[in-house]
Amino acid sequence: MSVAEPAGASESPRTWSPIVRLAAAGSSIVVALPEDGLPRVLHWGPDTGQLSEADFAALVQATTRPNAANGIDVDTSPAILPEAWTGWTGTPGISGHRDGRDWSPRFRTTAVTVTQEWNGGGIEVEARDAITDLGLTLVIEMLPSGLVRARASVRNEGSDAYRVDGLTLMLPVPTRADELLDMAGRWSKERVPQRGTFRVGTYTREGRHGRTGADAATLLTAGTTGLDFGSGEAWGVHVAFSGNHRTVAERIFTGERLIGGGELLLPGEVVLRPGESYTSPYLWGAYGRDGLDDVAARFHRHLRARAGHPRSPRPVTMNVWEAVYFDHDLDRLLELADLAASVGVERFVLDDGWFGDRRNDTAGLGDWAISDAVWGDGRFRRLVDHVKALGMEFGLWFEPEMVNLDSDLARSHPEWLLQVPGRLPVEFRHQQVLDIAQPDAYAHVLRSIVSLVTEYGIDFIKWDHNRDLVDAGSTVTGRAGVHEQTLAAYRLLDEIRAACPGLEIESCSSGGARVDLEILEHTDRVWASDCIDAHERQQIQRWTSQLVPLELIGSHIGAEKSHTTGRKLPLSFRGGTAVLGHFGVEWDLTEATAEQRFELADWVSFYKAQRALIHTGTLIRRDLEAGALWLTGVVAPDQSAGLFAIAFMERPVTWPAGRVLLPGLSPEASYVVTPAGPADGDAGNPKIYPEWWRNGSVTLTGATLATVGLDVPALHPDRAAWIAVEREPQTLAEGSGS
Ligand code: DGJ
Repeated sequence: MSVAEPAGASESPRTWSPIVRLAAAGSSIVVALPEDGLPRVLHWGPDTGQLSEADFAALVQATTRPNAANGIDVDTSPAILPEAWTGWTGTPGISGHRDGRDWSPRFRTTAVTVTQEWNGGGIEVEARDAITDLGLTLVIEMLPSGLVRARASVRNEGSDAYRVDGLTLMLPVPTRADELLDMAGRWSKERVPQRGTFRVGTYTREGRHGRTGADAATLLTAGTTGLDFGSGEAWGVHVAFSGNHRTVAERIFTGERLIGGGELLLPGEVVLRPGESYTSPYLWGAYGRDGLDDVAARFHRHLRARAGHPRSPRPVTMNVWEAVYFDHDLDRLLELADLAASVGVERFVLDDGWFGDRRNDTAGLGDWAISDAVWGDGRFRRLVDHVKALGMEFGLWFEPEMVNLDSDLARSHPEWLLQVPGRLPVEFRHQQVLDIAQPDAYAHVLRSIVSLVTEYGIDFIKWDHNRDLVDAGSTVTGRAGVHEQTLAAYRLLDEIRAACPGLEIESCSSGGARVDLEILEHTDRVWASDCIDAHERQQIQRWTSQLVPLELIGSHIGAEKSHTTGRKLPLSFRGGTAVLGHFGVEWDLTEATAEQRFELADWVSFYKAQRALIHTGTLIRRDLEAGALWLTGVVAPDQSAGLFAIAFMERPVTWPAGRVLLPGLSPEASYVVTPAGPADGDAGNPKIYPEWWRNGSVTLTGATLATVGLDVPALHPDRAAWIAVEREPQTLAEGSGS
């Protein structure tokens, strides 16, 4: 990190450096720290290298703009929290007021702390506006992964209430970032990429679902034209919040391009009494020099470095939802458990329908007591014991933040439902939202879950959340309640995890509608989608992994005929697709033939053999043959091995497909390249398989694989082939001696 010494420290009360550079992993951010304003990012992107005091001064000169926009007499370049007093007419960083007053603050920095770390580092800025009586804390960090994260806290230092309408942090991107890429989606088709030109104006993605949303922007990326997985520069931002949020790309008439976002606060949702403060969610920023894979790699590296990141081999998981739905029957589930164990499943999860009067989705939600009708007379205990005796973990479904009106809980505590005066929100899957910001409701849920987890030794919770929070007001405060509800959900997850050591929790929300970096701080994996159709899953997982590493993405093999799309796909493609994640099974194995179960067991074994690599490797994605052929691979951090899947998503226009490059390996090393995965068809057929495949292997250098590539099997659409590469032992020895 470079820090400029304060210029003329004796004449100035300022005690901090006027400019700081934070750098890690090939990326840096250079931040000006003026006394009379808020921090301004002069550069975010490729690493500038060390900067001396003279370099800093030169950089300021070089980046101070002419006042060419007729009418504005100063450089209007915005701070990380843009303010109107600078002449900025784009989206304001802070909006709020006291009954119409104090609506346009001018913050002055009063203190700066810079953490002196060799890799990364952070800046904490304290600022005040004496006129509006507001205090502000801004934190900007560069993490060892090269990710930037920032957040702001506003404090009411006045004597009357201050209403916060929004805190929006923005990071600048250069003018060569001409394209925008973010995600759209819907139930069972999450994270669909969409592209556009970075036009003048404000492009805003608002999430008003009260949860992250199946259609969330997830990552908003500005990039150079033609930005791809492996090429082009990219600057991506993510708002880490599981409630309402806003992601913004803004290009204004003076030429600035900014990307950022914050929480989307509903009218009057946050009102600070004297002394209170509001903290924004983290805004995460990732710079990629070589395309979207570079951006993804930073997120993955960061998440994997966390102390709480799951490190044990991710267990093969069977979830029984699509096998039995609400039709719970002990004998059937015992049989399913037996079959699951026989194919190598390691965790067995009982989904919705085990509690209260929950025989379908219209009743019982919120009554977290084992159903007498279905699971009484010790039947539930028998299932748990049976699963454990088979050597599997036992997982259980909950939807703790929700309630059916037809439930004992809703009947006894109607005041615990989020609502607006005089009416309940429109029903959504026949359910309403429990206001867990109310301490008694919170305590009730906490108690119910912890006692069941403890009593039955539950290892895993599938934590669902199946409706939007609309009209979601508190009966206690009368205010909109999404903000408080979201924070309460985080607290609840943390308290349950603290009370139940070893328990893992999955974030599920009508499939993949709660996938963000903050929920991942409180859970152990995400359920990517309710759509288990492997063709669709290729896309959903490909784009979920733009943010989330494969080991945290629940990825199951479904039935031959998909329950959500009706598409029929062979087990080879379903298995090959599910391996690209935290693998599992969601298929009624009582209906599978013995042959199918053998093949499934092969996929389970393949996953088990490869999961250490898949769950630690660097992700590589390429769209080939005009998008007809998708390459997805992982390369071990030490480049000793790699595993690549080639999926034929469509029929390419020309045939057979061209050579495929396998990037990411060590150029000088030799690799033994072999077909991988359970055999699918006659591997000796020269009409389908290239010569090297029929011979069983070929040895090529990493450079050859990355530049010349190799031919791949000529497969039908919705088929995949797997290729393993392993560094030759002698090159290992040579490499280690050099
Ligand atoms: C929605 C989830 O995404 C499904 O997997 C399943 O758990 C159902 N809810 C149960 O109601």
